Amino acid sequence: MTDTAIAFVHGRRVWDSRGRPTLEADVLLECGAVGRGMAPAGASTGSAEALDLRDGGAAFGGYDVTDALEQVNTAIAAALAGRDAADQEAIDAALIALDGTPDRSRLGANAMTAVSIAVAQAAAGAVGEPLFRYLGGPEAATLPLPQIQIFGGGAHAGRRVDIQDFLVVCPAATSFAEALDWTAEVYRAAGAMMRETGRLAGVADEGGWWPDFPTNEAALEALVGAIARAGFTPGKQVAIALDIAASDFGRGGHYRLGLENREIDSDGMIRLLAGWVDAYPIVSIEDPLAEDDAAGFAAFTAAMDGRIQIVGDDFLVTDAARVREAAAAGAGNCVLLKPNQRGTLSETLAAWRAARAVGFAGIVSARSGETEDTTIVHLAVGWGVGQLKVGSFARGERMAKWNEALRIEEALGARGGFAGGAALAGRRR
Ligand code: PGA
Ligand code: ZN
Repeated sequence: MTDTAIAFVHGRRVWDSRGRPTLEADVLLECGAVGRGMAPAGASTGSAEALDLRDGGAAFGGYDVTDALEQVNTAIAAALAGRDAADQEAIDAALIALDGTPDRSRLGANAMTAVSIAVAQAAAGAVGEPLFRYLGGPEAATLPLPQIQIFGGGAHAGRRVDIQDFLVVCPAATSFAEALDWTAEVYRAAGAMMRETGRLAGVADEGGWWPDFPTNEAALEALVGAIARAGFTPGKQVAIALDIAASDFGRGGHYRLGLENREIDSDGMIRLLAGWVDAYPIVSIEDPLAEDDAAGFAAFTAAMDGRIQIVGDDFLVTDAARVREAAAAGAGNCVLLKPNQRGTLSETLAAWRAARAVGFAGIVSARSGETEDTTIVHLAVGWGVGQLKVGSFARGERMAKWNEALRIEEALGARGGFAGGAALAGRRR
């Protein structure tokens, strides 16, 4: 038996940032190393995502995880006992085989994600390395460009506005720490503007300011205003990224804009978004069309002609095969990577490798329901993904990730680098 053989797997029920039950897994190795992983949860999920196992019923809105917890402590614990934690691919293959369903509905993607992360953390601990270095070796030395939400919206803010995320990126920042400094000023300026105009109403699920705006465009104007008020040149130093999350209000080529109470088709959406790209300093748009609108995705990508980054989240669901299909169809140029959309770290890495092979950029992403687990920051650095999106610049479950990146940047010191604007796909960097 090797030192990195799994001695024990233990799951427990804990609570996520929305106060809903979630799973945490601890993995103990024969050598004494321990790793921990926690499962996050989406609210605007893609229909092709792996499924979380939830109890249903009355308790906690049906979100309890008793069954998934049972899977961790019985079937998964038995299947992984004695296996080598240093062989992540074999561990994840064992989880996938044990589940045996295409959508991970037997074990639950929540159970699998927590365990897959815990195994990786334990294996890194066994050799005394932080996870990013364990995954990427000495080459893993580049901090990602952060995409940080300033206003929440969509499913994360009671559908107050149609767009889900109004974010900023800092293409001209020279370090991760500087990008956070700049974003902190923009976030503060945006809050001050909301207060002065009597529209300050707390924050949405990921910590962004509550979007009390009459139109989507008013929110975009406010974001440009906040960048300028914080003393930065919009588009040059600090630029805009959007997550439209269009699957939440579009289906079958019809898009229902709730704010304006009107319906437009796929071409209408493309014209609307192209107009915004002309009018505002936008460098990245996620899910501009719905998950079932591959033709629209390709048409928008053609219309943008390489100007901006076009990200697939619900559209690609961290799936390597979908990434290859999208690239072949000319749909998008960047993949969002969320481990729990598939259930294992190995599948997430496979999606990133597929993206690199077809020339797509990547963004490692948190979920709207999060925990204090900071593993995704290590994935971004360890795999050299180049961009990181974990919500806004408030609330502990978000700040835990930004702060972990600061620790990694400090640990790398002069050997480290910052991906900066070059990490963005598209010419408008
Ligand atoms: P979710 O949203 O975690 O609620 O799915 C995040 C996103 O759409 O990027
Ligand atoms: Zn998204």
